[in-house]
Amino acid sequence: MKIKSDWILPDLKAAQKRTKKAVPYINHFELEDYVRYIGKGKKYYISTFGCQANQRDSETLAGILDAMNFEPSESPEKADVVLINTCAVRQNAEEKVLGQVGNLKRVYRENKDLVIGVCGCMAQEEKLVHTIIDKYPQVRLMFGTHNIQDLPNMLYKVMYQHERLIQIYSKEGEVYENLPVHRFGNNKAWVNIMYGCDKFCTYCIVPYTRGKERSRTMDEILKEVNELKNDGYKEITLLGQNVNAYGKDLSADYDFATLLAKVAETEIPRIRFMTSHPWDFSDAMIDAIAKYDNIMPFVHLPMQSGDTDVLKKMGRRYTAESYKTLFDKIKNRIPGVAISTDIIVGFPNETDEQFQHTLDMVNYCKFDNCFTFIYSPREGTPAAKMEDTIPMEEKSKRLAILNQTWNKYALEKNKQYEGKVVKVLVDGPSKKDPSTFTGYSPENKIINFTGENIKAGDFVDVYIERAKTFSMDGKALCYNKNK
Ligand code: 5AD
Ligand code: SF4
Repeated sequence: MKIKSDWILPDLKAAQKRTKKAVPYINHFELEDYVRYIGKGKKYYISTFGCQANQRDSETLAGILDAMNFEPSESPEKADVVLINTCAVRQNAEEKVLGQVGNLKRVYRENKDLVIGVCGCMAQEEKLVHTIIDKYPQVRLMFGTHNIQDLPNMLYKVMYQHERLIQIYSKEGEVYENLPVHRFGNNKAWVNIMYGCDKFCTYCIVPYTRGKERSRTMDEILKEVNELKNDGYKEITLLGQNVNAYGKDLSADYDFATLLAKVAETEIPRIRFMTSHPWDFSDAMIDAIAKYDNIMPFVHLPMQSGDTDVLKKMGRRYTAESYKTLFDKIKNRIPGVAISTDIIVGFPNETDEQFQHTLDMVNYCKFDNCFTFIYSPREGTPAAKMEDTIPMEEKSKRLAILNQTWNKYALEKNKQYEGKVVKVLVDGPSKKDPSTFTGYSPENKIINFTGENIKAGDFVDVYIERAKTFSMDGKALCYNKNK
């Protein structure tokens, strides 16, 4: 397939480079007249894969499309523009995306005006972009994580000049404030506090796909939180690949602990944050979580491995012992805190003994929840070049053992809630059984419950009758609206 001269293709080597150069902030976003009405009478559909950062990006894409007068569509078949916001963190996430793009071929055959766009982290990967160029002609637009704000102009070109356009920048550009946003939730909202990651864990593609660490200013974040509070939002989640690094790239005298305290003082009812790295998790952060009632007692603390040598090969900057020390400190200083984690099994040449150390840590920490993965080599990362003689069957076996182990503790933990009352922020009727409701406890436990006169966004006291591994069942006791 011929590469057109105005296409911009990704370059992982360039994406890896870091400079100290200050990142410009752009506060102004305005649509030019030639793009403002191109969505009139047309619909869009956005499909989102991967993490919360992607979910939040999709809300910006939707916001921009709304501003161009498009309307949301409930299915890709009825849409004029379909955007697939992709994840590159593991091979199976990529396969799901390609499966969806493949399915859309039929829709494109019936409607040649349809614009199918692929964006997000996969678009930052060289090999993948070439695969799409060669094998998926139905994809007419590709853009990456650094130029979402150019969507109007890119769409205009694809729609009116019938072009196929690929515009993927490898380096982060400006930090954009005030991009339009169409929030998908009415009660819970994502708030970006920083973009990118500079940790370069050896298995991880994220520092290449999302660029260097760039913090938003505290003023902008607080402005957004206050607006959300005034709009009636009950819960916000502060987002960053590694929130502990917040503010370090700004020549400011504040850090994540200061931000947490300031956000808590807005008195928005519930605050969460994602994700914190065990390496620079400060005492001041622990103090802030312990001090403010509206910072939820829940910490996601990715461990990745319980073996110090593997952690070293992963570039994680902590040992099994120091993880334990931090874990204990968080448990001891924050009453009732729940801790979840991420674990990778089958890192290149992980031995039985090293895997056993991971199990030992799970037995010690008894996590409330674990997200477990088989290591997936990502082209361009250092780990992808490491020798790996562990067969996939062995890795799958380890994953099953690990899951069995943590499931046991998750159930044990949840059992401790039986007979107790927890405050639940209601998401709405349960999808599985619409006669019941579902929501989350402060510790991020999923609670399904029965009750009357309840709606999404309410805070409800729920008496827990039965604990399960991944959720709990109960009944509403009283109705404390807006507390
Ligand atoms: N293979 C498997 N899991 C990975 N993760 C990140 N990169 C990889 C990879 N190459 C996991 C880590 C991280 C979570 C978001 O995804 O556990 O914390
Ligand atoms: Fe990836 Fe490590 Fe950065 Fe997390 S901290 S996004 S695992 S490089």
